Parts: sequence; structure tokens; C-alpha cells
Amino acid sequence: MVSIIVAVAQNGTIGDKNALLWHISEDLRFFKRTTSGHPVIMGRKTYESLGRPLPNRTNVVISRTAEHIEGCTIARSLEEAIAMFPADEEVFIIGGAQIYALALDVADRFYLTRVEHDYEGDTKFPEWDESQWQLVEQEAYPCGEKYPYPFAFERYERVK
Ligand SMILES: NC(=O)c1ccc[n+]([C@@H]2O[C@H](COP(=O)([O-])OP(=O)(O)OC[C@H]3O[C@@H](n4cnc5c(N)ncnc54)[C@H](OP(=O)(O)O)[C@@H]3O)[C@@H](O)[C@H]2O)c1
Repeated sequence: MVSIIVAVAQNGTIGDKNALLWHISEDLRFFKRTTSGHPVIMGRKTYESLGRPLPNRTNVVISRTAEHIEGCTIARSLEEAIAMFPADEEVFIIGGAQIYALALDVADRFYLTRVEHDYEGDTKFPEWDESQWQLVEQEAYPCGEKYPYPFAFERYERVK
């Protein structure tokens, strides 16, 4: 099973200058809890923004050019990355925009953190067709313990 996991601002922004634009502890904990023990697949730029492999997860980096990244496996395409794992294993596509654009066609599940605030940034989540996805879980927060704006965790399953 292929899952997308992402946090998207109200105006579609997901990052700027290869970094995140907000710090929501609840979302970082949600990401850790959800992906731990599962493979994570990411684009080379997202790997560089993290700066290290994520612990307790098999890390796969998609790149046309990279030869070796310590602690990670390199794949030359999203298909190659997904094919490394059995179909019954939940693998997480963790960004960025270029890789989400490819993954939206093949993912079965979509974990979306809606950040209910506009952020200016150079990277946007690609357009996605909501009619292809069914909302199955939603948990909304008026703000975080240290974050001033509302956000919501949503889970979608692809409509068969
Ligand atoms: N808000 C969130 O949840 C979230 C999550 C993740 C990332 N982000 C943000 O997203 C931004 C990074 O996203 P991005 O779109 O710039 O970069 P990206 O998708 O992380 O990585 C792009 C790189 O992936 C490789 N790639 C892309 N398509 C490929 C293909 N078809 N075949 C082989 N390799 C391919 C290329 O690597 P090479 O150049 O090495 O060939 C390309 O330069 C950052 O600002 C980050 O903070 C936000």
C-alpha cells in the first residue's frame, strides 16, 4: 500500500527555500507516529532539507544523479522505489512537491494535515482531484500547544 503524507497550508504552500515554514509539534509527532517502522520515500531535495535519514525507517531517496547517500537507498524513479517493498507493506511518500505530483496517481491513501493559514513559499502541493478521494478520518484543532492557527489531520482513501 502506498500512502502520501503531507502538511499543506491554506494557499497550497508546503515549503520555502527547501525548508518547512511552520513548526507544529502535534504534526511532527503525528508524522513520527504514523511513519515509524515503515519505509519512507522522498525526493533528493527533501532528503537534503532533512539532512539525515529518519531513524527507525528504511529511507529511500529518489534521484537521477545521486550515487550514494549514507544510510539511504537510492532509486531512479518512484516506481523503482515502490517496487522495493511488498505490496502489503504501507510505504510513505514524504515529499516534496515533485514526488507528490508523481505519487498522486499511484497512492492508495493520503494523510493530509491542513494548516489553516496562508504562507508565502516557493513550493506548492500539486493540484489534486478531491473527487478521487474519500475522507475517512478528520481531527481538527483550534490551535497547537505552541502554534497559533487552526489545523486538522485528515485521512483519505482512494475511491475505487
Ligand atoms: N509540508 C510538507 O509536508 C513537506 C514535505 C516534504 C517536503 N516539503 C518541502 O518541499 C520542498 C522540496 O520539494 P521539491 O519539489 O523542491 O523537491 P523534491 O520532490 O523533494 O526532490 C526533487 C528531486 O527529486 C528527484 N526527482 C524528481 N522527479 C524525479 C523522477 N521522475 N525521477 C528521478 N528523480 C526524480 C530529483 O533529484 P536529482 O536532482 O538528484 O536528480 C529532483 O531534483 C522543500 O521546501 C521541503 O521543505 C514539505
